Amino acid sequence: MERRDFLQAGLAFGAAAGIGAGVSLVPEMARAAVRRSGGPLRLNSNENPLGLPQAARRAILDGLAEANRYPRESRIELVGALAALHRVEPENIVLGNGSTEVLQMSVQALAQENARLVLADPTFEDVPWYGQPFPYRLEKVPLDGRHAHDIGRMKERAEGGGRAIVYICNPNNPTGTVTPSSEVDEWIESADENTYFLVDEAYYEYCVDPGYWSCTKWVTKPNVIVARTFSKIYGMAGMRLGYAVAHKEAAARLSEYIAKTNANHLVLVAARVCLDDAELVPASLEANSRAMRILYDVLEELDLEYLPSQANFVMHRINSDLATYGRRMLESGVRVGRPFPPMLGYNRLSIGLPEEMERFAEILREFRKKGWT
Ligand SMILES: Cc1ncc(COP(=O)(O)O)c(C=O)c1O
Repeated sequence: MERRDFLQAGLAFGAAAGIGAGVSLVPEMARAAVRRSGGPLRLNSNENPLGLPQAARRAILDGLAEANRYPRESRIELVGALAALHRVEPENIVLGNGSTEVLQMSVQALAQENARLVLADPTFEDVPWYGQPFPYRLEKVPLDGRHAHDIGRMKERAEGGGRAIVYICNPNNPTGTVTPSSEVDEWIESADENTYFLVDEAYYEYCVDPGYWSCTKWVTKPNVIVARTFSKIYGMAGMRLGYAVAHKEAAARLSEYIAKTNANHLVLVAARVCLDDAELVPASLEANSRAMRILYDVLEELDLEYLPSQANFVMHRINSDLATYGRRMLESGVRVGRPFPPMLGYNRLSIGLPEEMERFAEILREFRKKGWT
């Protein structure tokens, strides 16, 4: 792809939000980006449908000149910028090859005979996955009636028996629901030093619930690790970058398990410029909420219950067998989310561009006509 095409395709970021100088041209570019991607609509992995931001594209092209060098300066610079963003020291930041590597490092660094891994059910699966090679005892606690983490029951399972690692995914994947931050704070404040909190804030930027705030404020405690990512709101899932914000002691512990140059130069420079782009997060949010409204409307029209979401995906009822539903969706040109037991009566649908959600809505109406949902 020519430099100009690569940059222009970047204008797709912001298209659905209707922002940017060439507004009239932009929707066509977004449509072109959808057409180019070919294959089924990808409403399965909670990616950002706006594509890689234009500022990131420019930084990547400029960064190619240094791609033959180990990424020393660009790493220092991004870590410094993240530290400034979170009002912490660079020693409080640990970069990951995606935030999934932060989860992996945490699980590895904290593993111990008879340690418990306490998590919600259902929640994002990476933490128990990374825990498998270690002698963790898995303690799954069903979400409560609000689809929030049941902090009371999680506490019972975590406390009073040696080390526990508590994974809190907030907002939670796959439900898109929030656990009130006051409840999380209260537990962190009162917990003993054997209780470690791994707080996954992959969808932090999407959340507008006034009862939600970040756990990065707990960086003062050596038993709290917060994971963040550039994969979602910043549209960089394929570039792979996440990070931990943690107490220096915890950060040093995680770093014992890091692959030292785990973030490549191009993603580092791309992330750096994204942090300075004031339009980027609002554009993503605007597009996400417009597209989500289209989804909510069709779900309400068809009387399919859904969980109001604080992220870029929605869990909704399907009134049929999930495997059959997923197969039929794929045959109709849509890739939908994987199963999240025990919520097998629901599909997790990622939010695409508004026009992609219109397409999904049409297909869902067809499903209803055929009695498939
Ligand atoms: C809750 C949660 N945490 C972490 C990740 C991993 O993201 P990444 O490794 O791309 O930062 C995801 C990806 O979907 C997620 O949903």
